[in-house]
Amino acid sequence: MQAPAHIVLIGPMGAGKSTTGRALAQALERAFVDLDSRIEHRAGRRIAEIFEHAGEAAFRALERTELCELLARAEPCVLATGGGAVLDAGSRRLMRERGFVVHLQVDVGTQLERLADDRDRPLLARPDREAALHAMAAAREPLYFETAHLRIDTTQAEPAAIAADLAARLRVACPAIGGSHP
Ligand code: S3P
Repeated sequence: MQAPAHIVLIGPMGAGKSTTGRALAQALERAFVDLDSRIEHRAGRRIAEIFEHAGEAAFRALERTELCELLARAEPCVLATGGGAVLDAGSRRLMRERGFVVHLQVDVGTQLERLADDRDRPLLARPDREAALHAMAAAREPLYFETAHLRIDTTQAEPAAIAADLAARLRVACPAIGGSHP
């Protein structure tokens, strides 16, 4: 296997994509990019404000545009996407074509625990969080499955351990990927 240009982390909110991605990027000596942070920087607004003022469809358009730009870059990076980045068919195709896609899995109970104090995510600004997370899982799980090259269950493991495991697996699958060894 050739060194993948980009390593793209997908999965639901609370799967640990950003924390794991940062640790993985460090281990592989690559740049880390957080898609949500890029969108906020580009829009000059927090995600919650984009949802509130422009609506979810506008956020999804920004997400798609930013993702396309990042995946077109030559410099290989580790990219943490937002939980809904797989909703767009074109984005799913691009992620698979231009990157090695890793699905970080998490169950709804664990999401509820990890996100209990979160007040930033607009899709969780509602009293029935559990039902909302189940509905999102039902709609999105097939999309995560069809997009990913590799799946890792994060329920029992810390992001640092997942990143170390992932870095080791990627180096075996693709020695050209390099990076610092523990
Ligand atoms: C979303 C997930 C969030 C963020 C936005 C929408 C989603 O990212 O992109 O609030 O649709 O699941 P995280 O998965 O990093 O929380």
